[in-house]
Amino acid sequence: MSKIKLGSQSSLYPYPATVISVEVDGKKNFMQLGFIGIVNANPGMIGFGIGKHHHTTKAMEKGMVFALAIADEDMLIKADYVGIRPGDKKV
Ligand SMILES: Cc1cc2nc3c(=O)[nH]c(=O)nc-3n(C[C@H](O)[C@H](O)[C@H](O)COP(=O)(O)O)c2cc1C
Repeated sequence: MSKIKLGSQSSLYPYPATVISVEVDGKKNFMQLGFIGIVNANPGMIGFGIGKHHHTTKAMEKGMVFALAIADEDMLIKADYVGIRPGDKKV
């Protein structure tokens, strides 16, 4: 079998479908995070990659509290929705 060159990609599977929630201007906002993982055991630390332009990021930059949830099967449709609709377009 010959080697297939994929180029430069961030591919590490599987990854959990994680939803991060914050409050933006008094309204709860959710978005999906794929780039997330444990980066240290003691003290416990996680790291994630999040785009600067997201509503979620703007709230986090103001120092607001955030929560994380790993989506289970029942949450998958909603987790997908918050992964494709930005905060100002979510209903
Ligand atoms: C499967 C999946 C994984 C995603 N992972 C990330 C991620 O790791 N980092 C990121 O910045 N955006 C990620 N996104 C995109 C955001 O979830 C999406 O742009 C979201 O609508 C932003 O919401 P907000 O503008 O309300 O904060 C992902 C989307 C999907 C569908």
